[in-house]
Amino acid sequence: PMVAVVMAGGRGTRFWPRSRNARPKQFLAIVGTETLLHQTVRRLEGHVAPERVFVVTTEDLAEETRRMLPELPPENVLVEPEGRNTAPCLALALVQIERRFPGSVMAVLSADHWIGDRQRFLEDLDTAARHAATARELVTFGIRPTYPETGYGYIESEGEGAVLQVKAFREKPPVEVALQYLESGRHYWNAGMFVWTLADLRAGLEAHAPEVLAPLDAWSRDGADPRTLAAAYRQLPQVAIDVALMEKAKSVAVVPARFSWSDVGSWPAAIEFQDADAQGNVSQGDTLLLDTRNSAFFGGRRLIAASGVEDLIVVDEPDALLICHRDRAQSVKQIVERLKAEG
Ligand code: GDD
Ligand code: MG
Repeated sequence: PMVAVVMAGGRGTRFWPRSRNARPKQFLAIVGTETLLHQTVRRLEGHVAPERVFVVTTEDLAEETRRMLPELPPENVLVEPEGRNTAPCLALALVQIERRFPGSVMAVLSADHWIGDRQRFLEDLDTAARHAATARELVTFGIRPTYPETGYGYIESEGEGAVLQVKAFREKPPVEVALQYLESGRHYWNAGMFVWTLADLRAGLEAHAPEVLAPLDAWSRDGADPRTLAAAYRQLPQVAIDVALMEKAKSVAVVPARFSWSDVGSWPAAIEFQDADAQGNVSQGDTLLLDTRNSAFFGGRRLIAASGVEDLIVVDEPDALLICHRDRAQSVKQIVERLKAEG
């Protein structure tokens, strides 16, 4: 039997002006009409029982997370006092879930990804779970790279079939290296989703990241009082599971994904997965478009009318309006930095 853990404590400003500290990417309905977080949980419907679906987030986002997921028992939203990256997040999930569902296989999902082909995704998840339970390896999912992305981790694989062996992990390589990986044919993007037995996650953390697990084990032995979690958390290093565990583990498998996947890292990525009209325009909310091409309008609060424009991204929020050339979407980061600097 499977339990699912959705990591949902991330920050992000690449979707300004929609995203803010209190409204990170997983809370946004940037692809489709539902938030990415809700889509992630809904994708498991009928496959993993709601009592077995956990979401880990930080204290400041917990209330909104529970409100957004009425189908989950509120206690299944596990609360971190602060974000210390994904290794602490998963160690906390481990010590809590071991008590309730010992002996399970754990599927780790990210709250802010887009996945097409739900059926194939669930089948791949089962393939990974079977492998984790029988071969007793840590399992990850590989996405065939289509360009030299430097914001992802890469997996070098060997072997053939539905489950491959991992030869090496390389988190966020420089672009020259990413280019080699793109051409090699043996490298995949690490999808940031993992499947393992609770016992193997425990063994892996004990062997490679005891500094992440030990303070939480001590906290758990002392009765797992939420009021003392902050003190335990302060002792934890800030480290990603990829670095703390996956890069170091001896025997890791990768399931090449048969589903389509995106980390939805920027406005253009969000646009890519929406249905466009015949002129290539994407609209969220009411729009009236005359001679307008290849543009995207994220509204919903009032009518947006455009005439004779091309290659624009427009994002309408009550307190800010973004008007950006499609080729300049990366500069949203600079806008956010400028705003921060200017207070
Ligand atoms: N609860 C909690 N606490 N969740 C967190 C925290 C934390 O401190 N930090 C991150 N998360 C959540 C994010 O919300 C996201 O869903 C997921 O964990 C992954 O974190 P990111 O910060 O988005 O990681 P990344 O994108 O830099 O890299 C990871 O994902 C890539 C694919 O999207 C790595 O696994 C890469 O190897 C991978 O390619
Ligand atoms: Mg990410």
